[in-house]
Amino acid sequence: MDYLIKNGRIADKNGCYEADLIIKNGKITYVGDGLDATGAEVIDASGCYVLPGFIDTHTHFDLDTGSAVTADDFITGSRAAIMGGTTTVLDFATQDRDGSLMEALELWHDKAKGSNCNYGFHMAIARWDKGVEAEMEDMTREGVTSYKMYMVYDALRVDDGSLYCALKAAKKQNAIIGVHCENWDTLLKIAQEVKAKGILGPEGHPLSRPNDIEAEAVARYMRIARLADAPAYVVHLSTREGLEEAMRARKRGQEVYLETCPQYLLLDDERYKEPDGAKYVMSPPLRTPEDNKALLAACASGDIDTIGTDHCSFTMAQKLAAKDFSQIPNGGAGVRWRGELMYTYGVLAGRMNMQRFSALMSGNAAAVFGLEGRGRIAKDFAADIVIWDGSITRTISDTDGEHNCDNSPFAGFEVKGGAREVFLNGELVVSNGKLIGEHRGKYIRRKGHNKIR
Ligand code: URP
Ligand code: ZN
Ligand code: ZN
Repeated sequence: MDYLIKNGRIADKNGCYEADLIIKNGKITYVGDGLDATGAEVIDASGCYVLPGFIDTHTHFDLDTGSAVTADDFITGSRAAIMGGTTTVLDFATQDRDGSLMEALELWHDKAKGSNCNYGFHMAIARWDKGVEAEMEDMTREGVTSYKMYMVYDALRVDDGSLYCALKAAKKQNAIIGVHCENWDTLLKIAQEVKAKGILGPEGHPLSRPNDIEAEAVARYMRIARLADAPAYVVHLSTREGLEEAMRARKRGQEVYLETCPQYLLLDDERYKEPDGAKYVMSPPLRTPEDNKALLAACASGDIDTIGTDHCSFTMAQKLAAKDFSQIPNGGAGVRWRGELMYTYGVLAGRMNMQRFSALMSGNAAAVFGLEGRGRIAKDFAADIVIWDGSITRTISDTDGEHNCDNSPFAGFEVKGGAREVFLNGELVVSNGKLIGEHRGKYIRRKGHNKIR
């Protein structure tokens, strides 16, 4: 089926303007004025924005941490994603410490079968050696051109030397490495101190991981990336101090990209004192209103490049089973509401325009992570498109996110806007807010990283 989308306002990372567009064979074939396309289904987008499908740079669907499995698998997570206008997720395929990258990739391909949205994989490297280095070429061939390395978690963390070597090797592949920046050894000691004071509940979680835990790790990553002469990407940045360290690196001339998540913009650490405080246990933890403010300003100014959700959903039963805060499964459900939250508290709050919104939600991620031909409304680009209706209003609840989780950190938030229609690879899969095309997601084979700074 061909489509003619009429009367909408296009919001692309390069600008906003009124135009019609034609979709044919999965692609945008024409963008212009007063188009007429015989035989095409006409979609009237009057009063709506026409946006490139959102790209969530950070999800964990069907993740088994060893002690808990996420509530959402690819089917339910991607259903929530597509209903919110997210046409592509970049999920983390995670290497077993004693396994290979290829085994992890095959496993994640298997998990992702039947996805409701497009998907690509960052490869999380849990061990660095010559074999893994050699596998990076295989990953490039398989369309995996980004990696994650963790400075935390016993089963995943790598040492600084491994990070340095991996950065150099990734650069040769024109790939980019996102790093989870927290100082593990120090936070473990502080967690012991917090517990020794008798603080065992969720309120202990942020106390055990103060801002400097992140800032020190960001600063270290920046210096290691400089030594390796490689671009750096910080995942889920949460602190003002971490932002300052990254900005310092940019001032030195380094190529640095920053990702944050709605929870670090809109939620603060007072939440841990609530009766359901365990819901908010994620790493890094929620911070202060001053951190929220600094990161929101950085989104608006363009200092932050991408917004991921770090969707990693656990049920309240899973979270409440823990004997103290350090055992609570880390993560929260967020993939459904990223668009509404950023539109309401970014655009409608007067902090950013639609061009910036579009860049943060889609265009920058497509460029940085090599999703060639996606992330823009332009001729020959893939027809991953959201018709965004700013008049929709709702209050988020724990269970209305189409996800498979019984809690949402954003429950109670009033939001405006929503995906009225979603096109995925040229096919209409959400119509009038209803999912009409299931399991249509495709694997996105990515090219190398594009420099946007
Ligand atoms: O708490 C979180 N963020 N869990 C998911 C794993 C990670 O570190 O991103
Ligand atoms: Zn992480
Ligand atoms: Zn994560």
